[in-house]
Amino acid sequence: MNILTTSQLTKTYGTGDAQVHALNDVSIEIEAGEFIAIVGSSGSGKSTLLNMLGGLDTPDSGSVSVRGKDLSQLNNEELTVFRRRNIGFVFQNYNLVPILSAYENMTLPLKLDGVAVDEPYVERVTKKLAIHEKLDQLPGNLSGGQQQRVAIARALLTKPAIILADEPTGNLDSKNSLEVVSLLKSSAYEFHQTIAIVTHNEEIAQMADRMIRIEDGKVC
Ligand SMILES: Nc1ncnc2c1ncn2[C@@H]1O[C@H](COP(=O)(O)OP(=O)(O)O)[C@@H](O)[C@H]1O
Ligand SMILES: [Mg+2]
Repeated sequence: MNILTTSQLTKTYGTGDAQVHALNDVSIEIEAGEFIAIVGSSGSGKSTLLNMLGGLDTPDSGSVSVRGKDLSQLNNEELTVFRRRNIGFVFQNYNLVPILSAYENMTLPLKLDGVAVDEPYVERVTKKLAIHEKLDQLPGNLSGGQQQRVAIARALLTKPAIILADEPTGNLDSKNSLEVVSLLKSSAYEFHQTIAIVTHNEEIAQMADRMIRIEDGKVC
């Protein structure tokens, strides 16, 4: 079953000589439960694509559907709610709130949505990610790898349709990078999540079920 599809996405930035076709006729399908790596050289359009998949940016033409919902049919408010319930984001810089504990950070999207926290699930996820003993710590007291694992827990806890991770290991050393991605991958299987990760790292890309390669805004 496809959990996410795009049809003929295009996005152009700038005009005249400065024009860049960041995405050019991109049609992809991602099946439920897949662990996908999006690869390509710097400037090839990976972040632009991921932002469209998550409804953070809108295409000039073409469409994105997540769980059968065409994102272009939603107004801003509906999109914000849809995103919170269906898309988990993991960013290179973790994006944790510095004055909230690890536990408060990872449960924040549920609180914003007025959803009760499934404590046994928090325990399973945080044990899996080996951060269960760090729940009361502020992000500033955690290592980069631990902060990213908190961000991954935050993404997993909403049980989204898909988790989108843009260079999630960009600020980590190679040992921590492989550990974080291994945990992300095994969490995906254990908790039946679908994950698309943008990476430059060939070793990480090789861990994926499938690679989507883009160059000059085109899938190749
Ligand atoms: N907001 C923007 N304004 C102008 N150009 C942009 C913008 N965002 C991305 N681009 C251009 O679009 C192309 C694709 O960018 P991006 O998706 O960030 O690539 P990647 O993530 O693969 O490095 C690049 O040439 C980049 O300079
Ligand atoms: Mg990028």
